[in-house]
Amino acid sequence: MNSINDVKIIDIPKVHDERGFLAVVEKNVIPFGIERVYYLYDVPTESSRGGHAHKEQQSVIIALSGSFEVIIDDGKMKKRIMLNKPNQGLFIPIGIWREIENFSSGAVCLVLASTEYDEAEYIRDYSEFKAQLLG
Ligand code: TYD
Repeated sequence: MNSINDVKIIDIPKVHDERGFLAVVEKNVIPFGIERVYYLYDVPTESSRGGHAHKEQQSVIIALSGSFEVIIDDGKMKKRIMLNKPNQGLFIPIGIWREIENFSSGAVCLVLASTEYDEAEYIRDYSEFKAQLLG
């Protein structure tokens, strides 16, 4: 089973010149094949997003604009990670509970996902998540 120590910050290569920055997500940077991309925007500051774990989906979360905090939880340990750099991604393997909150004004949360959307592979109930860890 994965622990929060398996959650990693990924540096996304960027090119800079006087016209600004260009960041490139190539397949060698992401530890899985990307099947889906979705993004959250116009999120009220008081909103809490996420609130689930996945049985199959691996994700990389990028703060394309603005900032927000991701709380990761493996059932034993929890950690709060601020994302605020468009050239950094947070890799979350399967089996990690995540919540996303404290969205800044104008924040855009991009998610690269290893699977197509399938509600059946979500665990949205925290007690079910804890029960799964016990075996
Ligand atoms: P939800 O999983 O609650 O969003 P988050 O965890 O990021 O806060 O999803 C919100 C709604 O959008 C829910 O009805 C499921 C739907 N949805 C899709 O239809 N396709 C998708 O790829 C995703 C991620 C969600």
